Amino acid sequence: MSSSDHSSDLVGRLLREKRARARARAAGEDEESQQLLVCAPMVRYSKLAFRLLCRRWGCDLCYSPMILADAFAASARARDSELTTSPSDRPLVVQLAAGRAEDFLGAAALLRGHCDGADLNCGCPQRWAWREGVGACLIHRPEFLRDLVRRAKRGGGAEGGGEGMATSVKIRVHEDGRETVELCRQGSEHPLEFATF
Ligand SMILES: Cc1cc2nc3c(=O)[nH]c(=O)nc-3n(C[C@H](O)[C@H](O)[C@H](O)COP(=O)(O)O)c2cc1C
Repeated sequence: MSSSDHSSDLVGRLLREKRARARARAAGEDEESQQLLVCAPMVRYSKLAFRLLCRRWGCDLCYSPMILADAFAASARARDSELTTSPSDRPLVVQLAAGRAEDFLGAAALLRGHCDGADLNCGCPQRWAWREGVGACLIHRPEFLRDLVRRAKRGGGAEGGGEGMATSVKIRVHEDGRETVELCRQGSEHPLEFATF
């Protein structure tokens, strides 16, 4: 995981807070304070109870399971069944599966205030995901990713992914790793807060 210096730099902020806590404990800059413990998204597992348990054991940042953005944006019933959270369930990144920028942005707008970031799943390799045009197939659509990040980063307004909310992607690495590097380099005008691989 890498981070850079942008307005809603979630990873950077969490690391700074963690170091500050370590300093406050007068424990100095121990090794633990140099790393974030992140609980990766896991369908069926990363639900509220599991996330709270992970936090109790020192997890700094939790992901939700992957949620289909189109259903989440369109249906209150889907929202109620797919995501439950609580005030102590922060910082939280909600992972979305979307093959259309509108779906991602619509879901992210509804998430504003309830989490700290919206992440696009570009890693799910399952056959149904390829059929639906979501998940790992997106690593072959760099122009789509560039457009989505640009629009999410514009912030505010109906299309805003959420001001103060991080936008990130979780990427399945290409067979040729150079393509992954190229994918991450593109769109430097609207860079991601962070990416996971
Ligand atoms: C049961 C299970 C469910 C998963 N669900 C998701 C998911 O919803 N979204 C995602 O991006 N990755 C998902 N993954 C992949 C994990 O987030 C992670 O990238 C992968 O397990 C590799 O990390 P590890 O080596 O620590 O296991 C899942 C993995 C497992 C084992």
